[in-house]
Amino acid sequence: MKISVLNGSPKGEQSVTMQYVFFLQKKFPQHTFSIQHVAQRLGKLERDQAAWQTVCDDVAAADGVLWAFPLYYMLVHAEYKRFIELIWERQAQKAFSGKYAAALSTSIHFYDHTAHNYIQAICEDLGMQYVNYYSADMHDLAKAKERQTFLRFAEHWFDAIAQAKPTLKAFAPIQANAMTYTPAPASPAVKNAGHKVVIVTETTDTQTNLGRMVAQLRQTFAQPAEVFDLAQVDMKGGCLGCIRCAYDNVCVWDAKDGYHEWFDAHLKTADILIFAGAIRDRYLSARWKMFLDRSFFNNHAPALMGKQIGYLVSGALSQQHNLREMLQAYAELQRSNFAGIVTDEVSSSAELDAQIQAFAEHAARCADQQHIQPTTFLGIGGQVLFRDAIWSDMRFVFQADHRFYKANGFYNFPQKKYHIRLLNLLGAVLMKIPAFRKRFYSKEMIPGMIRGLQKVVAEA
Ligand SMILES: Cc1cc2nc3c(=O)[nH]c(=O)nc-3n(C[C@H](O)[C@H](O)[C@H](O)COP(=O)(O)O)c2cc1C
Repeated sequence: MKISVLNGSPKGEQSVTMQYVFFLQKKFPQHTFSIQHVAQRLGKLERDQAAWQTVCDDVAAADGVLWAFPLYYMLVHAEYKRFIELIWERQAQKAFSGKYAAALSTSIHFYDHTAHNYIQAICEDLGMQYVNYYSADMHDLAKAKERQTFLRFAEHWFDAIAQAKPTLKAFAPIQANAMTYTPAPASPAVKNAGHKVVIVTETTDTQTNLGRMVAQLRQTFAQPAEVFDLAQVDMKGGCLGCIRCAYDNVCVWDAKDGYHEWFDAHLKTADILIFAGAIRDRYLSARWKMFLDRSFFNNHAPALMGKQIGYLVSGALSQQHNLREMLQAYAELQRSNFAGIVTDEVSSSAELDAQIQAFAEHAARCADQQHIQPTTFLGIGGQVLFRDAIWSDMRFVFQADHRFYKANGFYNFPQKKYHIRLLNLLGAVLMKIPAFRKRFYSKEMIPGMIRGLQKVVAEA
């Protein structure tokens, strides 16, 4: 069989993910693997039609397509995202349609599920037969047991191709949202004195719904909001994945463009931060993704801590739960308040005007109160995963993170709760006594769970 591998790492052959592909190549000599470094060579693919056609021909001639990529900010690298956009822009869907696909990622399992959901949805939109995914931890290949699991995954996929097995579907096609937003003149009624509002948008073009939503929100605040169009932000290229920023947050791009300086000067100083984007395939645009990837110079520290973070989204977000989850998670992981998402999925312009007004009022009120609502699993899960990783395997490399986590009390390991440890020790002994155990579970436990809370209610 011929397998076309679409490499999503900006590091090309030096990629962790590619080592997994090279391993498959050795283990299955009966199959031919051709590897296309689409993320690393994206510039050439955009400029050079012949190079683009070579990739499409390779996919068209394949029996199976392997989407092999590293995780980048809950998704794929910006250049891989751009490659996916080009498939539609250049009407190359035919090369992919009907092919048996699988996805292979390497990561530290931080939001790997959202990236895999994205790739599966893209496969289904392209009419591919998506079989399965393999989400490897970076170093899994070094473990014998994981290698066996990985080989089984590949065998299942090859068998599905050979036997033309039916595949399971997970994502319904998106029904486009056709509403045209015509805002009524907004009055600058929302008081935001003392709070800097920054809107980062993919476009300010008022021919688009998004451009009009941005303009409307901007006018809603009494103190003018600063608006930055991502097309104008000085980003000369995408994240290279070199991790040189890990020691001291200095990015290799710092000498070449103004992104880092802009981020520090305008985003870190904002109180209310609104991100605005239009849905493109199953995410926002590749430019938006590049903005996120480049913010990795902050490593795993929440550089936008304590702010109000909200979104304006143009497009059918209600049909894209995966994207909604990533947007909310981003705000929570920044330890900021998730101030909500306004979309243009409304029945009238007046309704959208009212939503934008309410959204601005809510964000300003929360900023006044420095309100941060409780973090859900989306934030807590990520915080715990990063805490453990930075403290252990990743500390040597990510020294800037380690300093930040230490200084900000992020190493909140449960082992440090000495009174709980003492309680657990005593509890373990007492629970061995049948009479105590019986009484505890039948009479003490449920009242005990609410005793402290009842006291608060009584005193309220
Ligand atoms: C900018 C950037 C963003 C990343 N985002 C994630 C992420 O969201 N989740 C995760 O688990 N790992 C993330 N990683 C870690 C990489 O996915 C991981 O190191 C991967 O194995 C690199 O693969 P590669 O060598 O094939 O490029 C990120 C790394 C970088 C540099």
